[in-house]
Amino acid sequence: TSPNLPEIKQFLIDLARECGTIIKSKSGKETYSDKLNSVDLVTAIDKAVESLVSKTIKEKYPEYQFIGEETHVPGVTALSDVPTFIVDPIDGTTNFIHNFPYSCISLGFTINKKPTVGVIYNPHLNLMFHAIKGQGAYLNEDKLPSLESRPISLQSSIVALESGSDRSGELFDNKMQTFRNLLSKEKGFIHGFRSFGSAAMNIAHVATGQLDAYWEGGCHSWDVTAGWVILEEVGGVAVCGNPGEDDIGVDNRVFLFVRGGVKEEQKKFIQEFWSNCQ
Ligand code: IPD
Repeated sequence: TSPNLPEIKQFLIDLARECGTIIKSKSGKETYSDKLNSVDLVTAIDKAVESLVSKTIKEKYPEYQFIGEETHVPGVTALSDVPTFIVDPIDGTTNFIHNFPYSCISLGFTINKKPTVGVIYNPHLNLMFHAIKGQGAYLNEDKLPSLESRPISLQSSIVALESGSDRSGELFDNKMQTFRNLLSKEKGFIHGFRSFGSAAMNIAHVATGQLDAYWEGGCHSWDVTAGWVILEEVGGVAVCGNPGEDDIGVDNRVFLFVRGGVKEEQKKFIQEFWSNCQ
């Protein structure tokens, strides 16, 4: 039988609320340790929330796959066509550690590798974004308007950019050069950039049209799956920039998210954006 999407979405909303209470109560109170380097951080709460989420999901939906930020195995965990829950227990862990109110839980669900259900909950600001592919996107109780008729241009845009935790070598140089190109008078000359420290929240703000785009040179399926569904429901587009890859993969891909807008202008926006990327 095919997955019952409204039931799955409600299940994820309830789970997000339960985890949100934990995230909010522990924000700014946790010690942390390093993962890949001293700016790639994790706390006991990231692990505890992921284990609560995976246990709850596996009890209710044992036939589906599960991918989580804290338990994936690099190079081994693979995305398949089987319906899959893709989970970031705390997106914006650095914000969580510093009690900056931009951490959230991001719960996505794919079918045939396509993002199909998405729930993002920021418990500090009580923002619950949720969507099912083809059935509209919501912020709390309110349906988000489609932005398909709104003008969009790179030169009048505000764009989320993140350094990520990989801050060395060629990749880092490329990211910084892209920031420079976008900001410079000679090239992109965007109105400005913002860096909220949470990929999922960035995508959510692109979906509402408060941001025009979000680009990151290397983030992961658990950061983007839920937001992807929400954004597409309001006319936005998500582009995976790694050559030859057209699905969300598991980790470390280049992504560009652009808000809904007049189709031709949106296309031009994407072309001009890529011409600023290294
Ligand atoms: C990170 C945040 C950050 C982004 C990184 C992500 P985490 O997720 O979304 O904004 O720049 O690429 O990995 O580690 O806080 O779950």
